[in-house]
Amino acid sequence: MRIGTLIVGAVAALLPLTSLAAVVTPNDIIPRPAQVSVVKGVFRLPSQATYFIKGDGSTLANYLSDEKEKFTPAQKASKADLLFEITGGKGENYTLEITPKQVKIKAPTAAGAFYGLQTLLQMAELPGSDGIACGKVSDAPRFPYRGMMVDVSRHFRSPEFLKKQIDAMAKMKLNRMHLHLTDAAGWRMEIDKYPRLTEFAAWRPEAKWQDWADNGAKYCESTRPGAYGGFYTKQQMRDLVKYAADRNITIIPEIEVPGHSKEVTSAYPELSCSGKPYVDEDLCIGKEKTFEFLEDVLTEVMDVFPSAHIHIGGDEASKRGWRDCPDCKARMEKEGLKNVDELQSYAIHRVEEFVNSKGRDIIGWDEILEGGLAPNATVMSWRGTEGGLKSIAAGHDVIMTPGEFCYIDYCQDAPFKEPISIGGYTPLKKVYSYEPLDSSISADKAHHLLGVQANLWAEYIPTDEHAEYMYYPRTMAIAEIGWSTPEKNYDDFLRRALSLTERLDSLGYNAFDLKNEFGERKESLAPVRHKAIGKKVTYNKKWADPYPGTQEATLVDGVRGGWTYGGNKRWQGFFSDFDVVLDMGEVTPLNSIAIDFMQAPGAWVHLPEKVEFELSDNGVDFTPLETVWSEVDPYYPKILMKDYVVTPAPDTKARYIRIKANRIKRPDGSACLFTDEIIVN
Ligand code: ACM
Ligand code: ZN
Repeated sequence: MRIGTLIVGAVAALLPLTSLAAVVTPNDIIPRPAQVSVVKGVFRLPSQATYFIKGDGSTLANYLSDEKEKFTPAQKASKADLLFEITGGKGENYTLEITPKQVKIKAPTAAGAFYGLQTLLQMAELPGSDGIACGKVSDAPRFPYRGMMVDVSRHFRSPEFLKKQIDAMAKMKLNRMHLHLTDAAGWRMEIDKYPRLTEFAAWRPEAKWQDWADNGAKYCESTRPGAYGGFYTKQQMRDLVKYAADRNITIIPEIEVPGHSKEVTSAYPELSCSGKPYVDEDLCIGKEKTFEFLEDVLTEVMDVFPSAHIHIGGDEASKRGWRDCPDCKARMEKEGLKNVDELQSYAIHRVEEFVNSKGRDIIGWDEILEGGLAPNATVMSWRGTEGGLKSIAAGHDVIMTPGEFCYIDYCQDAPFKEPISIGGYTPLKKVYSYEPLDSSISADKAHHLLGVQANLWAEYIPTDEHAEYMYYPRTMAIAEIGWSTPEKNYDDFLRRALSLTERLDSLGYNAFDLKNEFGERKESLAPVRHKAIGKKVTYNKKWADPYPGTQEATLVDGVRGGWTYGGNKRWQGFFSDFDVVLDMGEVTPLNSIAIDFMQAPGAWVHLPEKVEFELSDNGVDFTPLETVWSEVDPYYPKILMKDYVVTPAPDTKARYIRIKANRIKRPDGSACLFTDEIIVN
């Protein structure tokens, strides 16, 4: 069967699906199925296919009936185009037997049968499909959790938008939609006991997130003309839960505790340390009222969402107000808590206990590790994988969403051609390269790795179209990592992603134009030769600890950075002005000296206003050579790189070159500098 897979894969690679009509095989779809064998013969799915279900398949029947323009029940199993056999048991696995007359889809559960059908539908509907190759498929997911996060706080999305994304998720066999329902930018779920959450905390005067943040991040009454925002009624949420469940997708609601809660403390200031609106980002942990609120809210949330897991956030609490709050201090004293980390941990434990008492478990971002992990918590590892790996070693379940690979709010192509984003560069290939089963995970703990998830934070993503642009095709890579065996072949994945992206386009999704991807920064693709390679650099101001690059070697190693400062250590970051001295080793003729800096304002990275070049023969007395000024608007919002170049007069020579660059002063705090190479010729 493996040989069949390889041969068909190789032939298909020569025949891009879209260029001519072709018979599609299971090796053309995403996610790649586990075992495939292809024989002679073709099955063509009729535009009105008949089906027969043997066994308990109520969610599958609901789905087929929702799609009644495509499917009709058959009177007899032998007459059906599609024969489903649901045998009972557990699992999302399935087998397909494809013959010219009928496809038999066998699975223990309706979920497995649904996935068998999705495999078949993708083959029938990919662009250029001229039928489905006969043969067999035997398939099962690698991980039980395959997620996609939708941030509906920063920008509210309609239930119709969510259903449309559920449809796309189902095609890719993703099975968890994580809804980030609450954050400072707006509360999105109707809560009967706390009406101000949706009368007030769900609305803001400015539509654009940045304008809202710059204008003091205020809320407004829902009735105010032009109020921007929205919320889901319980009925809408219940309807969504059912729609998702019929497509084997569980909605996981996230209610942020105790940070990212300014909308709550502004609507209900009595839940904050200061007792005043617009002061605290965090809930007060000292006040009992906070826990009454959380229990009330979570009770209503669990009433609407039947998911086994409830996400309670836990990330990025500032903990600022807690240090001086009499209630928080009294709580710490009474409970014997040594610091504010333990106070946060107390809050998470308490919320967990409540959620557990209702028969559910919590998920929290990896900060919930700080101050002691709650006993039954599942950790969502986002600040790299370290927190996740530590939690797995301690016997906790983990969902991996490391920012470097799974944060798809980062740019997916050359930033100059992309919409404004929060920064970074995470193209499809990078997402696809992620392998969650780290070699440090022991075999007896591997079952704690539940799976993977793509996260799309929406600060800079105002429209539905833009959100789809960011999701597709990158969630296809997450789907393949979550479902398929870990062997990788990017060229083959890309071929399949191009087809599925075109299919989504034809259905009205606004996917990224993968065909015309520009790719990585050209300067970073090959080493650059110059006279300063390997020379000594002395730092009058040291690099920032989190961004050392390769320390003293970074700026003279002949390798340029790519579109992001994250990841490969080619860029070096500074939380101060920049001031280094390059020692050429001997007095050296200088034709040109260049240094480049990065601009990425979403990540507080700005070009220097000016770069000063000075020369010396003794390393002590420097003579100014030239100051190069930037002509770029320091708040130009997109990522770009700029070279600051001097070409000294003919016959200029020196042994030492000093380069100084200043950081701009942002009104809201300190900018940082990033550079990757000093090029001397
Ligand atoms: C996060 O990105 N703050 C979870
Ligand atoms: Zn407090």
